[in-house]
Amino acid sequence: MAKAKNNTIFFCQNCGYESAKWMGQCPGCREWNTFVEETAVTGQGKSKGNSIGRSQNMQSKPTVLAEISLQEEDRITTKIKELDRVLGGGIVTGSLTLVGGDPGIGKSTLLLQVCRNLALAGREVLYVSGEESLKQIKLRANRIGEFNEHLKLLCETSLQSIEETIRRSKPEVVIIDSIQTMYHEEVSSAPGSVSQVREATSVLLQLAKGLNVSVFIVGHVTKEGTVAGPRVLEHMVDTVLYFEGDRNASYRVLRGVKNRFGSTNEIGVFEMAATGLREVENPSEFMLNGKPEDASGSVVVCSMEGTRPILIEIQALVCHSNFGIPRRQTIGTDFNRVNLLMAVLEKRLGLQIGNCDAYVNIAGGIKIQEPAIDLGIAMAIVSSYKNRAIDSGVIAIGEVGLSGEVRAVSQIQGRVQEAKKLGFTTCIIPSVCMDSVKEMKGIKIIGVGNVREAMDLI
Ligand code: TYD
Ligand code: MG
Repeated sequence: MAKAKNNTIFFCQNCGYESAKWMGQCPGCREWNTFVEETAVTGQGKSKGNSIGRSQNMQSKPTVLAEISLQEEDRITTKIKELDRVLGGGIVTGSLTLVGGDPGIGKSTLLLQVCRNLALAGREVLYVSGEESLKQIKLRANRIGEFNEHLKLLCETSLQSIEETIRRSKPEVVIIDSIQTMYHEEVSSAPGSVSQVREATSVLLQLAKGLNVSVFIVGHVTKEGTVAGPRVLEHMVDTVLYFEGDRNASYRVLRGVKNRFGSTNEIGVFEMAATGLREVENPSEFMLNGKPEDASGSVVVCSMEGTRPILIEIQALVCHSNFGIPRRQTIGTDFNRVNLLMAVLEKRLGLQIGNCDAYVNIAGGIKIQEPAIDLGIAMAIVSSYKNRAIDSGVIAIGEVGLSGEVRAVSQIQGRVQEAKKLGFTTCIIPSVCMDSVKEMKGIKIIGVGNVREAMDLI
């Protein structure tokens, strides 16, 4: 009994924090009840994590930086523009990419489409599924389109045999769907546990770097902590992409969270159709679809997602509260930010909104963190409170500070340009940004210095 105890360790299933004893709350990620006892990986089972970047039988010796050559064709295009952009211009050979997301969001569909495009371009692709049978994959493939013989399927969960297959058939791109179903025989804990997921990833990492194959790993995000979350392996992989969106709505957003080969701010927008995922080339148009005319509490803002401006609609509903503590709720934007903006409006404009219920929603379900939408949120709240509609040709851009000042935002020209392209007639922007857009024609631009000036325009 005492001996067995020595060999076990407790892991947080959310972030991978290790502890010798069980704890109620994880000190790493502050989640509750996520610790699970697992057998520690012993010396021989642990993979040797020191052979990254060289092939199997090469000897380890220092190299001069200038002698390392980079070939031009180091990136493979997936023929899906939205994905290529998020990846930073295509798949880097020998890279390990994690695609995370809720179950059913479309990870397998996206990757199968990538496989199809790569196979059509004559590249050898191996799709390993531990979740679905060959028949199920075939059914999905039938919805997507024609496939050729360069795509090979493998239903397998044992890492050793996957490794063997990869070494034998030498594909250029490998998809592992999903990491939580894979198991390594030398690790005794169940598939999906932190030890298994880590070990499996480290084996795949060595394969990717050693054989120069690009590996995509699918990771499910779970709330219950029954399987290890993708966060456990975020630090091991080169690129982390999250697939998000409302399961009930048809569009999906692919967001780069970490990228060793490009920018992380990029997003790709897709629409789930009957024939797989379709790229959305003009997300602004898509997001503004169904916007109500002449309704109070609705304002259009412009958010910069990576290099691309996207117009989105902010909706607010402010009404008198029947409870002692007013109810506040936000969807798609930061809850604390909305509370702060309401406090600013109360203090600087003298509005009695402190005892009002408030609901703020970004239409379409997209999540936006950028402070440049502050002014839009503030205007939507005031518009709803006063029950006065904002003209539908107006767009608001600006960050709001604690003293009610409207602060500068980056890339103002790109944002105004996008608004103009979609037929907006008036742009409310921070007055400090007026200089950079004074040459723009065809759209009325109004500079505001603080929230009071902006509200006078409503
Ligand atoms: P899937 O790729 O299986 O999700 P994940 O791998 O992230 O768990 O996507 C499943 C959902 O996508 C499912 O609800 C059906 C839907 N879907 C379509 O609407 N159209 C399609 O062409 C395909 C293949 C799937
Ligand atoms: Mg799947």
